[in-house]
Amino acid sequence: MTDVTPERLLARMTLDQKVGQMTQPERMHITPDEVRQYHIGSVLSGGGSFPGDNRPADWVAMNDAFWEASMSEEDGGIAIPLLYGVDAIHGNNNVVGATIFPHNIGLGAARDPELIERIAAVTAKEILATGVDWTFAPTLAVVRNVRWGRTYESYGEDAAVVASYAGRFVTGLQAGYGPDGVLGCAKHWVGDGGTTDGIDQGDTDVSEETLDAVHVNPYRPAIKAGVGAVMASFNSWNGDKCHGSHYLLTTKLREHLGFEGLIVSDWNGTDQLAADFVESIALGANAGIDLFMMPEKWKELIEALKQLVRDGIVPEDRIDDAVLRILRVKFAMGLFHAPRPADRPWSNSETFGSAEHRAVAREAVRKSLVLMKNEGAALPLARQANIIVAGKNAHDRGHQCGGFTVAWQGQSGNEVIEGGTSIWEGIHAVAPHAVLSPDGSACDDGNFDVAVVVIGERPYAEGMGDIRGVETVVEPGSGPGIVPGAPTERLEPYAESLEHAVNHPEDLATIRRIAEKGIPIVTVLVSGRPLVVNPEMSASDAFVAAWLPGSEGAGVADVLFGDHAFRGRLSFSWPASADQNPSREDAMYVPAFPVGYGLGIG
Ligand code: BGC
Repeated sequence: MTDVTPERLLARMTLDQKVGQMTQPERMHITPDEVRQYHIGSVLSGGGSFPGDNRPADWVAMNDAFWEASMSEEDGGIAIPLLYGVDAIHGNNNVVGATIFPHNIGLGAARDPELIERIAAVTAKEILATGVDWTFAPTLAVVRNVRWGRTYESYGEDAAVVASYAGRFVTGLQAGYGPDGVLGCAKHWVGDGGTTDGIDQGDTDVSEETLDAVHVNPYRPAIKAGVGAVMASFNSWNGDKCHGSHYLLTTKLREHLGFEGLIVSDWNGTDQLAADFVESIALGANAGIDLFMMPEKWKELIEALKQLVRDGIVPEDRIDDAVLRILRVKFAMGLFHAPRPADRPWSNSETFGSAEHRAVAREAVRKSLVLMKNEGAALPLARQANIIVAGKNAHDRGHQCGGFTVAWQGQSGNEVIEGGTSIWEGIHAVAPHAVLSPDGSACDDGNFDVAVVVIGERPYAEGMGDIRGVETVVEPGSGPGIVPGAPTERLEPYAESLEHAVNHPEDLATIRRIAEKGIPIVTVLVSGRPLVVNPEMSASDAFVAAWLPGSEGAGVADVLFGDHAFRGRLSFSWPASADQNPSREDAMYVPAFPVGYGLGIG
């Protein structure tokens, strides 16, 4: 194997083998035997797609079977190890029992690049424990409208904050392509966080100068740190879909920025380029897509690519270029010399979900909390106090983890998140007199010194987390960058208003019910974005933005009881009203709280 190079390997490959390398089906739609037969280069798990009982051993066994198929030289096969990709975006979050880190919005508030590198390194180990090689992370979106359902995947509205994390995350995750690392994928190229009204998959209507300064900016340190893959974005730039833009994918990313890794399309992302499937593949391939994430229609993709080459519409040179990039990444990662997944050093490692890993996540929770208000010295809490813990998110590990946790859209309840602690469990562990009463009704009988009310959103992901009115829904054929007749997926939004009391009146009711008894209120907001919470904040003595803290809810108690200081700083402007979209670049910047805000005690 030692004399094999990507170039020599390519020279031996048939067209079938080449287009197979460019194909990435979803695990539910392909068998190992089909991987062998079609020479498939990569397989992915969509959010919430898992083998067997969703334990590391199930994943390793699945990866073993796919790997073995990819290495078979039977019936004209060529041994090229498969790349398996997942969305491990806050820990290896698809897998039961994994350490779940705060979503990126909380990490942005921590302003701690060194911590980011450690988080990425732990995440890599938990990915390797499952025999997986690749995660579609980091998300480098610079979000300019918190109505976007993916706001929580972003470190902040400020390109400098995102850029300060980008390279460190890649370094921690890829570990120099050694045995302790996995392949990363910076996403979504480019302008995903800049769409008009924050509409998922919408149009980013900005000048090239703004595109560069805001949205391209964080990719530079990621590329410098050697990120091996970049994912194209669903959004358009000034009406042109990124997936079909030769200028964005090839001229800008490859030629101007010098990115040498592979470009993967997003989930059926090329479908939006043209009504005709074959034409949409031609547009994507010629724009610069190397690997097509085509979860179900992968056989049609293979046929289309072959036809396009035979017809001279996609030059064979472009195919060779794409395959070479994929092979080079696989070589650089050492996959050609790696044993089968089951025999790799970290497979089924006991460190998966270990106390040591969870300690890093708990530290991240502590550092991400932003203290917005603290009157009458409501905080810190005393351990011996009689505390009522209320609110629907007080004891719900599913809600505190948010979307992209075991299920794509996330889930409610504690059972779904194995290991870790809810915020209530963390409080109860240190405050023996604390009482849990989700609706706050226990305040009618008890004698309480203080209440901790944990309010917020329920889980969501992608377009289903958007806040937008029905009138802003873009129908196929009617919107910017949408090709008439081409299929597009516009998901039902989370809500129409940024005002929390409109979407979740039950939370304000719980706060008021307890406040009426004269009990001081400490409100903890669990949410994927800043929300308009004026009445909730007025009715509270202290107010903490906890974002989506993940599995280690005990990190919240660490800070509420003063064992650790509050040190989180907003990485997003906090809107003062539902019609606002404040940005620091506004001539009149009048948010409720600016970027950088955060009180300190302790
Ligand atoms: C998302 C990507 C994700 C991919 C694979 C898409 O819907 O936009 O961020 O990596 O699915 O699950």
